[in-house]
Amino acid sequence: MNFPYYTPVYFPYLINYYNFTVFLNGKKQMAENLIIGGELKSEKYETLIPQIKALVLGESDQVANMANVAAALKQTFGFFWVGFYIVRNNELVLGPFQGPIACTRIKKGKGVCGMAWEKRNTILVPNVDEFPGHIACNSDSKSEVVVPLLLNEEVIAVLDIDSDKLNDFTTEDVYYLEQIVGFLS
Ligand code: SME
Repeated sequence: MNFPYYTPVYFPYLINYYNFTVFLNGKKQMAENLIIGGELKSEKYETLIPQIKALVLGESDQVANMANVAAALKQTFGFFWVGFYIVRNNELVLGPFQGPIACTRIKKGKGVCGMAWEKRNTILVPNVDEFPGHIACNSDSKSEVVVPLLLNEEVIAVLDIDSDKLNDFTTEDVYYLEQIVGFLS
């Protein structure tokens, strides 16, 4: 028997059932519940993407949206570190993130983040030890992917994801992460 309501096409309708009303200190609150679906990474992304879209399209504040995107990615995949660096005064400055404390400022062209900013391209790093100039904010980080966020052809921030496993990211991650970052521009 088929359960069509589990497919991505029908998925947006499910979200409302999970945004249930709760009472806190006698006041009505909306609880946002993230649904994590599937076994394969691609299935997890397919489940996550409509939820992220629904979350960010209803909110105009970039920092709030970055915070929820970082949390949703961390919650879904359990990556070691997920976060944003935001361009401020010609430097990348640490933005919303999930994971251990991290470096606060990165210059253009430096490290994976600074390189993704300079080249305006996603950078996939299977082994951080083999990336010249990699900035090791944490020695447990083994592989990394950085996706720039462009607005009017200018990089305004980068999404950085670190894994404590080698070769943890593929072009499949890039495909989905670029879509997710696209919702923020
Ligand atoms: N490794 C990054 C620095 C940021 S941390 O990984 C959070 C880089 O080389 O740019």
